[in-house]
Amino acid sequence: MLDAKFVNDYIDTHLDKRQVNKVQHGFPSPRYWTDPYVPVKEVAEDRRLIREANRSTPLNLYVGVPYCIKTDPGKCGYCLFPVEEFQGNEALENYFGYLQREAAMYKEALEGATLGGVYFGGGTSNLYKEPMYHKLMDLVRDLFPNISPAADITLEGIPQLFSRAKIQAIRDSGMNRISMGVQQINERLNKLSGRKQTLKHTTQTLDWAAEFGLAANLDLIFGWPQQTVETMVEDLEKVVSWGVHDITHYELNVGGPTDFALNRYHELPAPLSNLEMYRVSRDLLKSHGYEQLTAYNFRKPGDPFGRDYEEGVVPRLDNLDSIGLGYAAISFFGDTMLEDGHAWSFINQRNIGRYRSMIDNGEFPVEQGFRHTRQDWRLAMLFRNLLGLSVDRTAYREAFGIDVYEEFRSIWDALGERELVEVTPEAVTLVGDGPFYTPMIQALLAEERYKDLREREVSHKTAPTVLSLSAPQPLASANAATE
Ligand SMILES: C[S@@+](CC[C@H](N)C(=O)[O-])C[C@H]1O[C@@H](n2cnc3c(N)ncnc32)[C@H](O)[C@@H]1O
Ligand code: SF4
Repeated sequence: MLDAKFVNDYIDTHLDKRQVNKVQHGFPSPRYWTDPYVPVKEVAEDRRLIREANRSTPLNLYVGVPYCIKTDPGKCGYCLFPVEEFQGNEALENYFGYLQREAAMYKEALEGATLGGVYFGGGTSNLYKEPMYHKLMDLVRDLFPNISPAADITLEGIPQLFSRAKIQAIRDSGMNRISMGVQQINERLNKLSGRKQTLKHTTQTLDWAAEFGLAANLDLIFGWPQQTVETMVEDLEKVVSWGVHDITHYELNVGGPTDFALNRYHELPAPLSNLEMYRVSRDLLKSHGYEQLTAYNFRKPGDPFGRDYEEGVVPRLDNLDSIGLGYAAISFFGDTMLEDGHAWSFINQRNIGRYRSMIDNGEFPVEQGFRHTRQDWRLAMLFRNLLGLSVDRTAYREAFGIDVYEEFRSIWDALGERELVEVTPEAVTLVGDGPFYTPMIQALLAEERYKDLREREVSHKTAPTVLSLSAPQPLASANAATE
């Protein structure tokens, strides 16, 4: 357990630092996903074992697209995701053929699995033309012939690429939700990203979604260059007035060779201004009847087109199965029933040429991954549950045979003193500014394990031994997916 003084010093030095959100990747950071040998066939076999033991949760599917339209500055000025420049419809349709072939590779292993939800993300998934949404859903139905009406099937896109015909095709295909990356409603601020998006694109898409009965989520970003609390409040008030039920409000992650990091760093609100924005946005949304589901997700109950996506947001602790299909797609798989070393996080090829050539060779197009020990998997599950704001102590004990408060007592006590966390006999819950500090809290929880991994990384770099690529190593570490 970390020493109380170390924990207190760590928190004190990080409270006014910029938060670096790697929340989507859970534990560990993709920097440590360096194992070049990911035995996808063995993972598939484990998946079957879990299913036969009636342990599995519904499986989530992520389907990615590599392409985005060109912007000036490139990659919208801030984006850290791997993407390729859109070269036209032919390349996109050719890519879809590869997706079909990759999906077919998973077919046998998924027989009998239940689908929890699908997320068509990217990249920019609404670059597809109308007929392709049906084909995308055919691909899903081929893997899961019986899709429950409760399954959340979301397609992500940018406002200026939606049209009425596309929204109709999306609905007719069987998808039931769109997620729009809007980032800023304020057109002056949005222009900094080089995106040719107007307020009208957003409102019109929302109208079409309502016309065709699709639920709609809006992604907004705070901590944007030149943004003030006032412009943020204006944006949020507009979104609320349009009746949007689901709002994702991310803090800007600044890094890499992006325009915002290189040329607009001085225009960013200070880290503590971001905290102020977080507080104001949370209070504003709550005052309008929104519930906070995660550090970044807010939902107003009563969406006539919405469905319960609790399964995806507040996962169980004992089992997680999420398959990523396509370029740079990420998969997570693990279960407490399995022996040490059977849980994995892995990422598909981030180079479109290599993605294609591996499929052409009949191989799963995986780039690299991280093989979890039991302790790693426990941390990964803790990270995911914290994202849902609360960890159920009983469920944690049942899954791992250990009390989550006792395991990290010095951390919870120090956070409790600062009113960032509340510990009760039932749960450990993020309170106050706690959700804003999720990345810092996760980093603290993982500190000891990261120290081991860093040491291992150094010894692997200096050791003269050659690691065999054909045999799985007990532990491995990795390079960044998005850094
Ligand atoms: C990977 S993008 C894909 C969606 C779509 N292409 C778009 O731009 O809206 C998904 C979401 O991630 C968020 N995002 C991307 N880069 C980010 C960054 N550097 N910091 C915070 N959020 C970011 C944006 O809110 C975006 O809507
Ligand atoms: S923010 Fe969206 S549109 Fe822009 S580069 Fe990233 S994925 Fe593409």
